[in-house]
Amino acid sequence: MTQPPVSNPLLAGLQEDQLAQPCTLVIFGGGGDLSKRKLLPAVYNQSLDGALPASFALLGVALQEMDDQGYRQFAREGIERFSRQPLDEQYWPDFERMLHYESGSFTDPQTYQRLKQRLEEIDQTFGIPGNRVFYLAIPPALIETCVQNLNDAGLVYPVDDAQHFSRVIVEKPIGHDLQSARQVNDVLGRNLDESQIYRIDHYLGKETVQNILVMRFGNSIFEPLWNHKYIEHVQITVAEAEGVGTRAGYYDHAGALRDMVQNHILQLLTLIAMEPPWAMRADVIRDHRQDVLNCLRPITPDIVNQHVVRAQYGPGYHEGFDVPGYRREEGVGPDSTTETFVALKVFIDNWRWAGVPFYIRTGKRMTKRASEIAVHFRGVPPVLFNADPSHPIAQNVLALSIQPNEGLSLGISTKLPGPKVRIFPVKMDFRYGSTFGDQSPEAYERLMLDVMAGDATLFMRRDAVERSWVFIEDILDAWNSSGVRWLPEYTAGSWGPVEAERMIENDGFKWRLL
Ligand code: BG6
Repeated sequence: MTQPPVSNPLLAGLQEDQLAQPCTLVIFGGGGDLSKRKLLPAVYNQSLDGALPASFALLGVALQEMDDQGYRQFAREGIERFSRQPLDEQYWPDFERMLHYESGSFTDPQTYQRLKQRLEEIDQTFGIPGNRVFYLAIPPALIETCVQNLNDAGLVYPVDDAQHFSRVIVEKPIGHDLQSARQVNDVLGRNLDESQIYRIDHYLGKETVQNILVMRFGNSIFEPLWNHKYIEHVQITVAEAEGVGTRAGYYDHAGALRDMVQNHILQLLTLIAMEPPWAMRADVIRDHRQDVLNCLRPITPDIVNQHVVRAQYGPGYHEGFDVPGYRREEGVGPDSTTETFVALKVFIDNWRWAGVPFYIRTGKRMTKRASEIAVHFRGVPPVLFNADPSHPIAQNVLALSIQPNEGLSLGISTKLPGPKVRIFPVKMDFRYGSTFGDQSPEAYERLMLDVMAGDATLFMRRDAVERSWVFIEDILDAWNSSGVRWLPEYTAGSWGPVEAERMIENDGFKWRLL
């Protein structure tokens, strides 16, 4: 197939940023926690920044009885507490008039008939040409009935309708294993074209995560070194200080592997490891990310104990206070074996990454909130400055700090000033905060605008979700058949269990201190 020539794909991609198109954003679960904390504040910030399309309205749908005025108050409370930018009283009346609400059950076809009528009225008032983005911020069990009803009510336009669009945003989790993920995808596929489905992974919307591609392919110095010849190993840490909080009902059936690795962390891995895409097009980038997933070496039952460590937090400290262990948290059973921490050693079996271990660790109730990708380059040869094995020179480490304190740093060796030649490790450091000042937009802001623009680059395609589950399911199967009655513990507020230290130390490395 001949492709149109693109002289500088990255630049072309950036210049071709698509614009958000006029539409109504319909949030199923519009009265829920995600809406209050993330979605409504995100729309408010987009609006304040002038990023929303000129014709735009929002319609919340949920079971609670509320009128438009009640919903505006609900949105206001969320925005006052969680918005990146403070609520502007002068601007508020202009914003709140875009917000509407319809109460109803997602399983009742009548709800969708009412929605249809409401949407037509909103279209008229706001001059919206019938375009809709449906955001399913609802429990997975309701996805089927919701998309089926949307379709039956004629709320989904055919994909080849050149005048209008309907797009559907689906929140995680997509299934709890491969089979259930396939079921969700089948249901979506029966009612929608793949190009109308936007499976959201909010990590892909983070500014620092998007910067991975710019760093790799917008600079000439990294890519020649980006392979097994120069890179010794990579560490990915996603640490959270919070415990399970009020989410035990969900989390205790999920655990860290499903909750964080299957989606967010495997996606980070794909961006670090993918081959250079030949254009900044959604399917090109997603194909390249998929190649990485396809090359993941399976972690089979015979190696699972050498490659994976799981653990649970025990009692400890958080911000100066005693906190309970996981099994004493509200909603968690005293004999739960759900992991709140997992560390993995992963290999990508392709030419570029042959033999390079990728170490991953993530957990709740760790020392602090800190997410980082650290690329450890191979050391200099054991001659000249590195001739003394008792004083090895520090390796170069490129550390991408995902959050907080977003930025990147490169560790290099330098001469300590003075008459003797003494080598000292220093850092070249770039921080978003000090360089660009403004707070970066939240992931949800960027991602919702992308859907309004029809750009699926930062969303998960069906094959990515399912391939990730294939990888994860091997580990889950091995765990299930092991029949363990308890998991190793780590102290709340620590960096994880000693078993995770041992796993990496057995290979001669150490987890980075963050
Ligand atoms: C969610 C997980 O997807 O990501 C949560 O379900 C986790 O358990 C959260 O806390 C972390 O997101 P962030 O953006 O705070 O790192």
